[in-house]
Amino acid sequence: MIFFGDVVGRPGRSLLVDKASALRAEHEADFLVANGENAAAGAGITGKIANQLTSGGLDGITLGDHVWDQKAFAGEIGTLERVCRPANLAAACPGRRWLVLEKEGFRLGLFTVLGRTFLPPRDDPFAACDQVLEELKDLTDAVIVEIHAEATSEKIALGWHLDGRVAAVVGTHTHVPTADAEVRPGGTAYLTDIGMCGPYRSVLGREVRPVLDKYLDGMPRRFEVATEDVRLSAAVIDIDEKTGLAAGIRLLTERAGE
Ligand SMILES: [Fe+2]
Ligand SMILES: [Fe+2]
Repeated sequence: MIFFGDVVGRPGRSLLVDKASALRAEHEADFLVANGENAAAGAGITGKIANQLTSGGLDGITLGDHVWDQKAFAGEIGTLERVCRPANLAAACPGRRWLVLEKEGFRLGLFTVLGRTFLPPRDDPFAACDQVLEELKDLTDAVIVEIHAEATSEKIALGWHLDGRVAAVVGTHTHVPTADAEVRPGGTAYLTDIGMCGPYRSVLGREVRPVLDKYLDGMPRRFEVATEDVRLSAAVIDIDEKTGLAAGIRLLTERAGE
């Protein structure tokens, strides 16, 4: 399976849709999923964009701390069968807490938890994983967990908490890919951050100048999505169908025009 990091704005969406079917074939991937929390001009996602991404080749879309940035989305998410919101939001929030994707009888569970370090308070992501895995136990053959978090230590620790229990724990949110992809001793693939699908000549996907100027003078500004050096960043995860654990994980970078 291929897990794409945060899709940022139109540049990220366009390149992802352009490349999805070729990447699926090249990597013999049964499942393509992406975090879509920045898909709508960098802030949240809309129902229309979610549908464009699934028609464009994604099997599932996860979200992060920007889940509700688009005002109408809370009213739309319930109708989107291939979209899940973070599992450790308040129980009253709309939307699915997890997805089960199926291909030729193989059932892949997928869910996201938000970290709590340097982010607004949430329910405990470690306990939320335990709870969701219990719910998914009889419904899935393997599970992929996304840890959408700021702190490297929290992500690494969650990877250890789930080692041997899921196929992979992959991180998102920082928009910067990390060089630590490995299969842990218990058989769970781990990567601290997948990186983003979007313009890398930027500050986390936004135009450099206004972000830099805000650091220089502290004045508020509008941060537009940047346009240059658009790349897809993804984790390619090989799942052992017999055990539901990982046979391998590697970081994939795909540039526009390649
Ligand atoms: Fe993001
Ligand atoms: Fe985020």
